[in-house]
Order: sequence, then C-alpha cells, then structure tokens
Amino acid sequence: MRLLAIESSCDETAAAIVENGRTVLSSVINSQVEEHRQYGGVVPEIASRRHTENIIAVTQKALDDAGMTLGEVDGIAVTYAPGLIGAVLVGVNFAKGLALSTGKPLVPVHHIRGHIAANYIAHPDLKPPFLCLVVSGGHSHLIEVLDYTKFRIIGRTRDDAAGEAFDKAARAMGFPYPGGVFLDKASHNGDPAAYKLPRPRVEGSPYDFSFSGLKTAVVNLLHNASQKGETVNTDDLAASFQNAVVEILTDRTVKAAQEFGYETVVIAGGVSANSGLRSRMEKECQKHGWKLYQPPLSLCGDNAAMIGAQGFYEFEAGHLAGMDLNGIASLPIDVNYGE
Ligand code: KG4
Ligand code: ZN
Repeated sequence: MRLLAIESSCDETAAAIVENGRTVLSSVINSQVEEHRQYGGVVPEIASRRHTENIIAVTQKALDDAGMTLGEVDGIAVTYAPGLIGAVLVGVNFAKGLALSTGKPLVPVHHIRGHIAANYIAHPDLKPPFLCLVVSGGHSHLIEVLDYTKFRIIGRTRDDAAGEAFDKAARAMGFPYPGGVFLDKASHNGDPAAYKLPRPRVEGSPYDFSFSGLKTAVVNLLHNASQKGETVNTDDLAASFQNAVVEILTDRTVKAAQEFGYETVVIAGGVSANSGLRSRMEKECQKHGWKLYQPPLSLCGDNAAMIGAQGFYEFEAGHLAGMDLNGIASLPIDVNYGE
C-alpha cells in the first residue's frame, strides 16, 4: 500500500510517498525556518500562509520524485493533530480535497505518533511493544508503545517541552532560532561541569519532567553576570545546560524501562537529534543490555515520511476519517481518531 502523506503542523510544508509504512519512495520538505528566524520564533499566520502557497508544489514534487500520479496512490494520510491550528488546517483541508476528488481513503495521523514511526522507516526490525522517549519542540513524553496504535503515557512535561527549553536557553545565550542545534554544537567546546544548574523534579510524579526552572536558572545566571560586568563562557554554559537536560531525560527513561520491564528503548522527535542525548542513551542502554533505536538525523525533525509510516498502521487499524475531518490543536497521543 502506497500512501501520499501531508504534514503542515508547524513551519515545514512536507509531502511524501511511503509504501507499507516502512519504505520511503519520496520525501519533500519545504522549511520556513529562515523566514521565522527574524522574529525569534514561528509566527503562526506566516506559517499558514506559506503552507497555503507551497503545499501543491511540494505534493506534486513528492509524486514526481516517486514517479507516480495521484491516481496511483492508495490513500491520503495527513497530520490532523496536534500543532498550530491554522497551519494544521491547511494540510487537513488540502488532504480532504485530494481524498474527495480521487475517492481514496483519508487517514488522519497524530503528529507525535508520526515522530515515533520515523523509527519504523529507519529500523525494519523494530516492532512494538517498546518504551519511547519523545522529545520535540512542543512535547516531552515517556510513552509505552503497546502496539502501533495503542499508547500509554508514563510521563510528560509539566511546563516547557525539552526543545522549547533548549530554544529558550539558546536564545538567552544569543544563538539564532531555533537554538537547540546551535547550543548542541557549542556544547562540544564547553565543560559540562562548569556551571551548576538545577535538576528539577516533579513531587510525587517520578516520570514527569519540568524544564522551566532550568531555563530560568540560565536566564538568571546570564542576567546576574551582566549586572556584575562578568563574562560568561557560552560554550561552558551550553555544555552545562545540555548536560542537565540530557541527565534528566535519560534518568527518567532508564527508571521507566526498569520499572515497566522494557529492554527495547526508542527515542524520537526533533530533540532526538541532540548529540549529548544520543550518546548518553547509547551508553545507558549498552550498560543495561537494552536495545536502543534512534532515528537518523534526517528523520528527527518534522517530515511527511513519518506521517506516511504511521498512516499505514492507522489504515490497517481501520482509523479512517470522513469529509468532516477537522484539525485539533492539542490532543493526547493515546486517543484514537473518532474516540
Ligand atoms: O520535532 P520537531 O522538529 O518539531 C516539533 O514537533 O516540535 O522539534 C523541533 C525542536 C526544536 O525545539 C529544536 O531546537 C530541537 O527540536 N532540536 C534540537 C536539536 N535539533 C533540533 N534540540 C537540541 N539539540 C539538537 N541537536
Ligand atoms: Zn514535530
């Protein structure tokens, strides 16, 4: 089965053709990041307008790259939740138009399920059940992936998502938006023990995360130093911050794997590109004799191939949408379409 997948939940307009959830025949990503960078973050209205302008050309290119016509695809998969609602609606409405005009099935896909499914593309042997740490710009979750469309949330962030914390701390350090990747690069030249930063815990919820206190500690440290006329070594601060976030994420994941008895651990989402997180998770999983799966860097960020991968399993489970499909700004991962 070959699905045409559409993704427009944030600032990437993307389309892909994916066969049987595992093989990518084409994948096109049009990123708006340069335009949003001048504002220091994604401007929702601009994102919607660019999706509207680009979505047809991006989709046509995905079909051309796969050497297919629209008539040859077996269904249309689309991100319907969660995301910037004005951006999500562009993809949803476009996918509905395609499904209506071709008579093909319409498959609604949860964006975070898509991030997890990026791993199915990269790792043909990966099958649920497994434990997954999903860390992106908008989400930080520890999830039991019980089956392809069955999830149980073990832990979540109480405030900022991991990527959001990276981006806010990076901004305070003077890096361009989105700062996660710049902070990661700077951390290679810094000493992770140079600055003492907190490791916030959520009382009574051992698997939940809280990153806003850590971000505030960085902002306060920079503010105090500037008031005293002291210089801060940005590489050292980047390394110390990254070390703290990675320690928090890894610590919770290891504890959850132990308590719930998982020997297969998966990471997913934009922050799974972080070099510190990847190497620390590798070390921990090796130490415990667990198998670790991580997406290649090309599949960590937003793309439509991951939506096509998850779309296949949603289709198999019978999770199809009608012409009343709507976008949803915020939706837990464990809710199936129509439930
Ligand atoms: O998954 P994603 O592309 O979008 C969402 O669904 O939110 O994640 C984007 C996030 C941004 O916050 C970005 O700064 C972060 O992933 N990110 C990184 C790295 N690469 C991307 N954070 C830390 N280190 C990186 N190397
Ligand atoms: Zn994403």
